[in-house]
Amino acid sequence: MKFETLAIHAGRRIDSGTSAVMPPIILSTTFAREPDGSMPHGYEYTRSENPNRTALEECLAALEGGAAAAAFASGQAATLAVLQTLASADHVIIPDDVYFGMRELTQHVLGRWGLQATAVNMADLDAVRAAVRPATRLIWAETPSNPLLTITDIEGVAAIAHEAGATCVVDNTWASPVGQSPLQLGADLVMHATTKYLGGHSDLLGGAIITRQEDELFSALQTIQKAGGAVPSPFDCWLLLRSISTLPYRVAAHTANAQRVAAFLRDHPRVVAAYYPGLPDHPGHAVAARQMRLFGGMMSILVQGGAAEAIAVAGRCRLFTRATSLGGVESLIEHRATTEGPNSKAPQNLLRISVGLEHADDLIDDLAQALA
Ligand SMILES: Cc1ncc(COP(=O)(O)O)c(C=O)c1O
Repeated sequence: MKFETLAIHAGRRIDSGTSAVMPPIILSTTFAREPDGSMPHGYEYTRSENPNRTALEECLAALEGGAAAAAFASGQAATLAVLQTLASADHVIIPDDVYFGMRELTQHVLGRWGLQATAVNMADLDAVRAAVRPATRLIWAETPSNPLLTITDIEGVAAIAHEAGATCVVDNTWASPVGQSPLQLGADLVMHATTKYLGGHSDLLGGAIITRQEDELFSALQTIQKAGGAVPSPFDCWLLLRSISTLPYRVAAHTANAQRVAAFLRDHPRVVAAYYPGLPDHPGHAVAARQMRLFGGMMSILVQGGAAEAIAVAGRCRLFTRATSLGGVESLIEHRATTEGPNSKAPQNLLRISVGLEHADDLIDDLAQALA
């Protein structure tokens, strides 16, 4: 089936108890056994399984073309679960501009348990290859990256990982499953902060791991999911599944708006650089055009001047809300270095923009007056 059909039908079925077309939210934490001790519907306790989570996981696996999925309470919980499958003294390679929360997990959380991490420019496959060590077990890619929209060649990185006997994971949050299918390009696992485009309305937190095959690694991940308990609530699973129904249409519209906004910003005299993979002069455009179906709604710009000038531009926006996060219907703008704090590697004059679903003319007018 095509993506639009899967987004509406995968994981959904008519409720057997009530014939409800839309799934009920099963809030119960526990499920009754038959007199012989068996579990008639396979559900025992909601931390382990819940019907709303099962439906969501089936849908997420279908959207990424994977064999199975595990849903988590946030993107970070999903990332942490992947890292927790590793042993102490294992080595991971991460992008040098990886989402700052992921870097924090490798350094300050699992670094204390002996995990070794090397940050490299993932746009440079030679640098990735040079960073491989005998203990390398995982290569983590994020493409487009946060906040510089660096593009990683997924096929290239997956090949390096597999030569080294390591797992290749792709954080597909910014592209969304509509924009890019890393499992088809050779990745072993896909990670999503479902908080973003999949949720789409800035009203839920979630994360997911989707696997190409149901292997030992995925089974270890499921153990961490169920035993660790960082699972999404039945309500959040239900809300997320509801949002996914419109995902293909939202991402297409985000991309169309972003393409226009990026072209406007690139040509603006007060913008020193505009990073959007859909722009032909973006350094990763050729790779992005090969591996992405849609370029998405995220971009960054460098404003003439420093932090003060960039913050002032954001301050004059009327339609773009000054807030972190992305992927919602509403447009957001943020001074990324402020959000990330003193250890941020984001340039001081960088503004990160999540282009929403308002009319592109209104968005461009707002940025024009803010930059004037
Ligand atoms: C690329 C990327 N990965 C992971 C995350 C973490 O997701 P969450 O905030 O749901 O934990 C984010 C959040 O902004 C992100 O942008």
